[in-house]
Amino acid sequence: MKYKTNERLEEKILDSIPVGIVTYDVNGDITYVNKVAETMTGYGLSEIREFQKINHVLEGDRELFWKTLQSGQPFFGFESYCPSRDGKEIPVVTSIAPLLNERNEQIGTVATFIDNSEIDRLRCVEEHASLILDHITDGVITLDPSCVITGFNKGAEELLGMDASEVKYRKFEEVFPTERDIRDKIHETLTTGREFKDLKVQLVDREGTNKHFLITTRVLRNRNEQDLGVMLTYKDITLQEMLEAQMRQSEKLAVIGELAAGTAHEIRNPLTSVKGFIQLLDQKYPSESPEKAYFRIILSELDRVNEIIREFLLLSKPTEPNLRLIDINNVLEDVKTLMSSDALLHNINLEYHLSQAPIVCEVDVEQIKQVFINLIRNAFEAIGLNGRLAVSVRADNRQCEIRFTDNGPGIPTDTAAKLFEPFFTTKPEGTGLGLTVSYRIIQNHGGNILVDTREGEGATFRVILPLAMKS
Ligand SMILES: Nc1ncnc2c1ncn2[C@@H]1O[C@H](COP(=O)(O)OP(=O)(O)OP(=O)(O)O)[C@@H](O)[C@H]1O
Ligand SMILES: [Mg+2]
Repeated sequence: MKYKTNERLEEKILDSIPVGIVTYDVNGDITYVNKVAETMTGYGLSEIREFQKINHVLEGDRELFWKTLQSGQPFFGFESYCPSRDGKEIPVVTSIAPLLNERNEQIGTVATFIDNSEIDRLRCVEEHASLILDHITDGVITLDPSCVITGFNKGAEELLGMDASEVKYRKFEEVFPTERDIRDKIHETLTTGREFKDLKVQLVDREGTNKHFLITTRVLRNRNEQDLGVMLTYKDITLQEMLEAQMRQSEKLAVIGELAAGTAHEIRNPLTSVKGFIQLLDQKYPSESPEKAYFRIILSELDRVNEIIREFLLLSKPTEPNLRLIDINNVLEDVKTLMSSDALLHNINLEYHLSQAPIVCEVDVEQIKQVFINLIRNAFEAIGLNGRLAVSVRADNRQCEIRFTDNGPGIPTDTAAKLFEPFFTTKPEGTGLGLTVSYRIIQNHGGNILVDTREGEGATFRVILPLAMKS
C-alpha cells in the first residue's frame, strides 16, 4: 500500500500530531513516513526510503517487528532509540501494530514513536539526585502532602534499619506508628510551613537499640513555589550523646577521685611496710622451700597494687605540666623509636605520616608522650598480631590533630561510651586507666580526644591540641 503525497486530510492529520509514524509492508520495506518522523530524524522522506534509515528504530526490536507481522499481535510502549542525521540517538517510546486494509487483511505494520528526550532527561536528573542522596550519610526521607513516603535514601535505610522498598509509598504513621512527636512536627511543617531544626529525638531501632537523632523538617517546593511535601533528615548522634554522658560521669568521678586520692596516698605507706616485711620473711626461708613461690606472688601482686595507686594518683592529682615549646613531629618521632620494636614483634605495620612543616605546641613533653604511647599500646593490644596502625598529623592555623587509625576489631557502641571511664577495661591484665589519664592530660593542655569507631572496622583516636601562640 502507498499513500499518495497529495493534500489529503488524513495525511495532514497524520503530519500534525506530535508522533513519528512509519509504515512497513510485509517485506519490512518502508512505505510511508510522516513529517514528524522526518523532523525527528533529520532525514527527508526520500532519504529514509532510500536508506531505510528509520529501520534502525526497530534494530533492537526486530523480533517484535516480525512477530507483529507474523501474528498480528501489537506491542505497545517499549523504549528504544531513533537515529538522527546529526549522529545522536533520540530516546523514543515506540509501539508497533499490524496495519490492516479494508478487508481486515494484514498488509504490513505501523510503528509510532514519541520523543522521550524530556522524560529521559528528567529520569537522568532524578537518578543523579537519588545518587547524591544515597551518598549522604544522614537519613533523608521525603513525604508528599498527605504524608506518604516518596523517598527513603540509603542513610535512612542504615540508620533506621529498614529497606526503602518496604516503606516507600506507605503513610509515615503506618511505618512509624509510635513516632507521634515526629509526625506532629511533620504535620505542622506541612500545614503552617514552620520548619524545625535539630530536634533531639530517641528511637528504638529494629534490633532494639536505643538511638539518638537530630531531626530537621523542611518544606519541599518546586520552582513554581508549589508545596510538594516535606523533607525529613535524621542525623545519628548516638555516639556523641553517649560520649557526652560518659564525660559528665567522668567529671563526677574526678571529684570522687580527688577525695580518694588522699586515701590512696595513705594506702601506699602501709603497703611499703607490708612489702618490706614480706621481703624480710622471704629471706628467712631457704631457697628450695615451696613457700618461696607464695612470696613471689605476694610481691608481684603488691607491685601491681602500687602501680594502680601510682596511676590513680596521677589521675586524681595531675602534676602541674612542665610546659615547653616543641614540634609535635619530634615528639611523635621519639615515640616511634620507643614503639617500633614492639611493632616488629607483633608484625604490625606502623605507618607514620608526619608533616614537613613544624607543628609547634606548648606542652609537657613527657605527658604528651605518655598519651601517644597509651594510644599506640591500646591499638597494638587491639590488633594483636599482623595489622596496621597509621599515625598522622595535620594542622590548621589554630590547632593540630594527631590521628591513630588501627585496623583492629573496633569498639562496639555500648563499649565506646565507657572508654574514658576510670577502670573500664576489657583486658584481663588491664587497669582501665590508660585512656582516663590520657584524656585528663589532653584536657589540661586545652585539647580534646575523640574516637571514631565501628565494631569490626577498626578505631581512630584523634588527639586535638592547640598550637602555640606566635609571639
Ligand atoms: N584501639 C582500640 N581498639 C579497640 N579497643 C580499644 C582501643 N583502645 C582502647 N580500647 C578499649 O578501651 C578499653 C580502655 O582502654 P584503656 O587504655 O583506658 O585501658 P586498658 O588498655 O584496658 O588498660 P591500661 O590501663 O593498662 O591501659 C580497653 O580495655 C579496650 O577495650
Ligand atoms: Mg590501655
